[in-house]
Amino acid sequence: MKLTDNEIRDITKYLEEGKPLPDMYRFLLFGDKREVELVWNGKTNEVTNVVLPFQVIEHVDEPRAEKDTRIQTSLFDFDNRGRQVKGWTNKLIWGDNKLILSSLKNGPLREEIEAQGGLKLIYIDPPFDVGADFSMDIEIGDEQFTKQPGVLEELAYRDTWGKGADSFIAMIYERLSLMRDLLADDGSIYVHCDWRVNSYLHLIMDEIFGKDNFKNEIIWHYDDKFATGGNVLDRNHDVIYSFSKADKPIVNKIILEKDEPTRRALRKKVDGKTIDVRDEQGNKIWVTYTEKKADDVWRIPRTIQNLEYPTQKPEKLIERIILASSNQNDLISDFFCGSGTTLAVAEKLGRKWIGSDLGKFAIHTSRKRMIGVQRELKKEGKNYRAFEILNLGKYERQHYIGVNPSLREKEKQKQIARKEKAFLELILRAYRAEGVEGFKTFHGKKSARLVAVGPINLPVTRLFVDEVIKECLANKISKVDVLAFEFEMGLFPNIQEEAKKKGIDLALKYIPRDVFDKRAVEKNQVVFHDVSYIEVKPHVKGNSVAVELTDFSVYYNQDSIANAEATIKNGKSKLVVENGKIIKVSKDKDGIVRRDILTKKWTDWIDYWAVDFDFESKKEVVRIKKDKAEIEERWTGDYIFENEWQSFRTKKDRTLELKSIAHECTKGRRKIAVKVVDIFGNDTMKVIRIQI
Ligand SMILES: C[S@@+](CC[C@H](N)C(=O)[O-])C[C@H]1O[C@@H](n2cnc3c(N)ncnc32)[C@H](O)[C@@H]1O
Repeated sequence: MKLTDNEIRDITKYLEEGKPLPDMYRFLLFGDKREVELVWNGKTNEVTNVVLPFQVIEHVDEPRAEKDTRIQTSLFDFDNRGRQVKGWTNKLIWGDNKLILSSLKNGPLREEIEAQGGLKLIYIDPPFDVGADFSMDIEIGDEQFTKQPGVLEELAYRDTWGKGADSFIAMIYERLSLMRDLLADDGSIYVHCDWRVNSYLHLIMDEIFGKDNFKNEIIWHYDDKFATGGNVLDRNHDVIYSFSKADKPIVNKIILEKDEPTRRALRKKVDGKTIDVRDEQGNKIWVTYTEKKADDVWRIPRTIQNLEYPTQKPEKLIERIILASSNQNDLISDFFCGSGTTLAVAEKLGRKWIGSDLGKFAIHTSRKRMIGVQRELKKEGKNYRAFEILNLGKYERQHYIGVNPSLREKEKQKQIARKEKAFLELILRAYRAEGVEGFKTFHGKKSARLVAVGPINLPVTRLFVDEVIKECLANKISKVDVLAFEFEMGLFPNIQEEAKKKGIDLALKYIPRDVFDKRAVEKNQVVFHDVSYIEVKPHVKGNSVAVELTDFSVYYNQDSIANAEATIKNGKSKLVVENGKIIKVSKDKDGIVRRDILTKKWTDWIDYWAVDFDFESKKEVVRIKKDKAEIEERWTGDYIFENEWQSFRTKKDRTLELKSIAHECTKGRRKIAVKVVDIFGNDTMKVIRIQI
């Protein structure tokens, strides 16, 4: 680099005045000679390498045989009930895929992935539609209720779209870099997008995967979308970019049936020239072709019957991708899995899979879907794999507070402290608690109870609550409230029972979204609701036990009757949730208000429930990578919920059984766990003891 004296003088002047350098200096000052590159505000090549432990919270394996003897484990891959005991277990992971990808790449699970031959295919369909958020339409009888997104989901949404395309690109750039590093050398990636972000995505994929590894720009054309009217042409296609990791990816030819058979003269290559083949009389030979090799324009209808998720994609589309770029038994992934379309197709095509999503509702939808697939394959006498639901364990401070990663360390620490303080003050004010100092885990006090506030954009983990209990014991504190936006799945009621045994009354409460509503805080209107409540009854008969669900309550609030009454116009209605009831508030044409409770029965709140007939038979062990590539296995003190029987509603079938099958078991005392997932996608568990 040779700069003129004038250029050096100008640059020095800009720097001394603390002004940004004009664009032209980028090409003079830096060694990188990329001719075309996409830059955006905050672009950095830094990629996170955080490793957090994965915790298995549930194991789902539809038994292939109905009886449970569990006395002997077979030498093969299944136990006596036909449940998988060896080999790869598919993984459905709840959490932010940045932390998931980095923990997969750098943590102990990487070895397991490599032992399966590596990750051969990734399909992702990131939230590229700015308008589609995390709110969900939920059916209550004949009405549709729109559940607002959870706070964690909303924060993620803000991270993705808060600064428009800039923040979307920054979000996807880091994740795509992590995905490239995870892919096997013969692996491929397919990224789904549309006109909103396709031009950016093509450029950053060129940069991350290399232009030479570009394979296709697939046009997915659908003509079953409603015409939008207006002067412009209807936008009836999405784009899917495919890139390979290196130069020899898995490629399988896809053969499709032609719309119309075509007749063509038979041709062959002779000495590099293509010529017609002729019969003995010298006539051309005509052949009718009914099949063709698939090209890069795919016509697949978009309409899905019984749609379970707003952005769900058709299985036919994903099937083509999986068939083209993977083989039987290969491991494939979707890190924005939504309703689990990729996972369902992977299972049906005999592939192993890893799926992840940030939304609890998405994980729950995928769980139901995969149980459905297991049941379907079982009925057809085909094989299927067990799957487990995981979340990320321990969290570090800066991950939950949303600190700008490009700041220098000292600035970062300052920003963490500032944001933490403001967040805590807000929550304590809304909870009407006063702040306390000098504790590690407690932040406030309300009457005789101490208050611990969970992290802002991550769920409260068992580790967090363990620390709270430890500090209670050390300071002889017997009453404590833990406030959180989300709790790790399967955390309660076990943790409360444990605390009770130690003499601590531990209450877990959800922080509602309206803590961010200044007026609600000022008017003391913010209600922190308890976690849900379950009642069950065991029916023991000889060697078998069945479980009946007898009661379930939730305490949610979303909007309020008073607000709906004040704001809706005559002739309109609105659904609100108050104290765990969904209420339709309507005004007739004269302004007369009517309130109808839609959740009349407690069962209306239940979307799904499942039973583990021998809870505490499988310990939850986390694997933690120690310094010198050594891996330590540590029991978290919790157990994995083994999903042995379940009943759930789908869009097609709204019925729910309230009593499980009679499950045969061995004699003795045992614990049974019952898990309920409500229509908002939140789960609660209840553990009971029985004697057989
Ligand atoms: C367009 S949808 C995927 C739909 C999916 N292809 C299907 O067929 O159901 C995008 C998904 O990405 C998830 N998501 C958004 N940001 C995420 C993040 N940071 N980590 C994991 N999942 C995320 C959303 O919850 C949403 O379910």
